[in-house]
Amino acid sequence: MDAIEFPEEGMDHETVLDAMRTLRDDDIKWHDNRAFSLVFHKSDEHGKFLKEAHNMFSEGNGLNPMAFASLRTFEHEVIRMTADLLNGDDQTVGAMTSGGTESIMLAVKTYRDRARKVMPWIKKPEIIIPDSAHVAFNKAGKYFDVQMIPAPLNKDFRVDVGAVKRLITPNTIALVGSAPDCPSGVIDPIQDLAILAEKHGIGLHVDCCIGGFLLPFLEELGYAIPPFDFRIPGVTSISADLHKYGYAAKGASTILYRSMDYMRYQFFVCVDWPGGVYASPSMPGTRPGGTIAAAWATLKTMGRSGYLENACVVMDTTRRFTEGINAIPGLKVLGNPPASVFAYTTTDTSLNCYVVADYMAERGWHIDRQQKPASIHLMINPGHATIVDAYLEDLTAAVTFNRENPDAAVSGSAPAYGLIANAPARSLVASNVLKMMEDLYSAKGTLPQLSGDAGPAVPGFIIKLMKLKSRMDRFLKR
Ligand SMILES: Cc1ncc(COP(=O)(O)O)c(C=O)c1O
Repeated sequence: MDAIEFPEEGMDHETVLDAMRTLRDDDIKWHDNRAFSLVFHKSDEHGKFLKEAHNMFSEGNGLNPMAFASLRTFEHEVIRMTADLLNGDDQTVGAMTSGGTESIMLAVKTYRDRARKVMPWIKKPEIIIPDSAHVAFNKAGKYFDVQMIPAPLNKDFRVDVGAVKRLITPNTIALVGSAPDCPSGVIDPIQDLAILAEKHGIGLHVDCCIGGFLLPFLEELGYAIPPFDFRIPGVTSISADLHKYGYAAKGASTILYRSMDYMRYQFFVCVDWPGGVYASPSMPGTRPGGTIAAAWATLKTMGRSGYLENACVVMDTTRRFTEGINAIPGLKVLGNPPASVFAYTTTDTSLNCYVVADYMAERGWHIDRQQKPASIHLMINPGHATIVDAYLEDLTAAVTFNRENPDAAVSGSAPAYGLIANAPARSLVASNVLKMMEDLYSAKGTLPQLSGDAGPAVPGFIIKLMKLKSRMDRFLKR
């Protein structure tokens, strides 16, 4: 690849835009409703409106609320509207962030700093998270030196509250539950977790990154959604993403706290910097005006009625998917997910979930493969209503193909994914993934090496692992 140099002369707008359109052609085909993650698209009309709202403030900066009173109003109103939706009161406070990960990281930092103040004897703080909690908690643990203690799940994929109770130690500063979790879309027993948290005088963070702008409307539509929000006294903070089922522009989430007694530990203040007195509510310095404005515009234009209407379509589509998948012999939806996020797996030993995934991917579906257990993950949006039948048709064919080709489990990318999930040497997998990141961010910017021999989308290190495994298998057979 040629070295990329800083351009000597600028190009005209149309040439640059053309180049961007060409590059975009290689992206996933989310607009054809063939992807089930990464993008939450309500409609083209809504997308156009979002861009207009975003454009109007795309050069604005929410860092200084005095300079951009408009952005301060948008953020304040977004937080008040979200607090209202999640049954907060006039004590509930919060801020907008760049996404679910930042909201979760801020919550972890806040609990840590609050514990330093009110529980100063704790030197090694711990937070108990369900095994299914989003990996952002682990990231936060690493960044902020808080130990994340994983709690096992019950058979229904919800966290085992008895296990959480046993894991509480004098170092525990908070508990976590998800509503719903990402891998299987179920809601943890938030009420039971809250009772535990209150009894031990610690916080409870509810990760509603997926559910914050969905579950309240499902409840209103009469779906059986257990309470998960500030109605439960022990819930002390909630993360809710505007850029998922809130249908705002990317880069928008909220972190809410029951009161300023928690949130004050989120703020950063420095009064001695030569550049002046500095105070900031969240991680970035500059806060992009476009996303703040577009989030406000979305809540205003959709209102309860818009979200309810949307939830009807999403849930009807989800029902068609889950009923259709469960009707295919050999496949089953995991647990009993109450919303529109779910995963399915294979139930008979002659089938391999990753073979089914490969077959679907070859037919142009963007497939999200999961591990523990091997499963395929979907998050449903309104546009998916148009492709349910085509998806189920391909899925039925995938299962038939796998039954007729049991050897497919040892070719294609299926064994590679199986190996990634099951390789006992996790540190070897981790060091190879790290190497992949180094390559990706090297001066060459190399994308993960894909190999033809082992089928589609198999990173080079997996091929090496597979060769090593087959050598070991041969050795053990001797
Ligand atoms: C339950 C849950 N929490 C947090 C996150 C992190 O959100 P983000 O990708 O916006 O940082 C996700 C992302 O899918 C999620 O599903």
